[in-house]
Amino acid sequence: MMLTNYRIRPFRPEDLEDVERINKVFLPENYPGYFFMENYRRFPNSFLVAETEEGDIVGYVMCRVEPHYTRGFTLILGHVLSIAVSKEHRRRGIGEALMLRAEEGLLTYGSEAIYLEVRVSNEPAIRLYEKIGYKKLGIIPFYYADGEDAFLMYKVVKEGLDDSLVYQALGRRVALDKDR
Ligand SMILES: CC(C)(COP(=O)(O)OP(=O)(O)OC[C@H]1O[C@@H](n2cnc3c(N)ncnc32)[C@H](O)[C@@H]1OP(=O)(O)O)[C@@H](O)C(=O)NCCC(=O)NCCS
Repeated sequence: MMLTNYRIRPFRPEDLEDVERINKVFLPENYPGYFFMENYRRFPNSFLVAETEEGDIVGYVMCRVEPHYTRGFTLILGHVLSIAVSKEHRRRGIGEALMLRAEEGLLTYGSEAIYLEVRVSNEPAIRLYEKIGYKKLGIIPFYYADGEDAFLMYKVVKEGLDDSLVYQALGRRVALDKDR
């Protein structure tokens, strides 16, 4: 799908205030400024913002790359840390465009699979991730500060990589079956 009236572009340090504001307004999980800057410094290709034609920032996605060493093999995992789109700009394809561009960025760092956590009650986000190919690996009980569980969702992005390797790397984090 083509995104009209909006542009996805790399995060720049001067965007920090806007990104922090959107993060605070639309997500209960907030981070200090240095956390955003650290992820930008290390993984600039997968930290993106969405802006209007007037240059107003209305969404962002921030990721990092985590190598996992399990039973003699290394799996490079992209981790989507935070994504949000301002309420009045939702359902126009911005979230999807941010995710797809973040995936491209994560691929430049060698990511073989991508994963994320999402509140089990967060239907819009779960639908978005399922639409672009993410699957539920399991549930992380009490993942959030208020006690809500998370779905751990993942997508294999390296051709030929077997899902079982992702389960080997991340399976121990999930305590319950995803279809509880
Ligand atoms: C999740 C979020 C980023 C989606 O952003 P968005 O720009 O509205 O998403 P898109 O317009 O790209 O939607 C893409 C697809 O996701 C699904 N989707 C998005 N919002 C949905 C909703 N409210 N209900 C059902 N499906 C939804 C649809 O399949 C949609 O495709 P469609 O419009 O062709 O049906 C946005 O709702 C948000 O910022 N939520 C608050 C922050 C948050 O929960 N972040 C995720 C934390 S893990």
